[in-house]
Order: sequence, then C-alpha cells, then structure tokens
Amino acid sequence: MYSQEFNENVIDHFMSPRNAGTIPDADAIGSSGDPKCGDSLTLYLKIKNDRIEDIRFLVFGCVAAIATSSMTTILVKGKTLEEADQLTDEDITNALGGLPEHKLHCSVLGADALKNAIDNYYFLQTEKGAIE
Ligand code: FES
Repeated sequence: MYSQEFNENVIDHFMSPRNAGTIPDADAIGSSGDPKCGDSLTLYLKIKNDRIEDIRFLVFGCVAAIATSSMTTILVKGKTLEEADQLTDEDITNALGGLPEHKLHCSVLGADALKNAIDNYYFLQTEKGAIE
C-alpha cells in the first residue's frame, strides 16, 4: 500500500531503519517535533574530536519521518560537526530519491533535530569550559 506513494529507497529505510536506537552515554541529544501531526524525533550523538562517531535515533512518526530519520544518520555519521550542521531537509529528501510533495515537511525533523543536538553539544562544551 505504501509502495504506491513512496519510492523503493524510502520503503527500504522505513522497513529497515539504519541506526535506530539510543546511545546511553551520548555526548549530545537533540530533538524536533511537528506539532501539527505530533511526530517527533530524538537523535543521540557520540562525538570525538568534533566528529560524529556514532548516531542513533528514536522517532515517533510516519513512513517519511522514519525513512528521513534513518537517512539523516547515514548522511552525517563520520562527518565533522561543522559539516553536519550544513545538512538540509532537501539533502535528506534528495538522498532518498524524493518524497511526495505533501510529505516533504517530514524531512525537516531530521535536519532540525541534528541542529538542535549540535547546538546542545556546543552549549554543554561552553558550560564545561571546554570551548569559549
Ligand atoms: Fe508528521 Fe510525517 S506526517 S512528520
């Protein structure tokens, strides 16, 4: 039923999400939600030398929210925080091969939660005095 609306790649990430789960000792956590539909995403990052060593996610959401969350983790794993901070919802959608027009908003969760996690990380580092 979903396959008529979504391409194969989206269905694949929906059926077999990559990097799903949490990181108990995460260095940064970020979240984002869409109040209109109630979907929400939380990202957990393990960071070493300003690089994302590991990333996991928990999402409550639609097919597109699950697929874009999965793709978000793939696109930024191994990237520096500066590189990851450039990720846009359009990058995520393109990497999946596109989404139906009315589902484009779902890809915003990944980019927003990532930016929130990176902001939280920098805030915590500043609080610890690790950066000025
Ligand atoms: Fe809410 Fe997809 S319908 S994120």
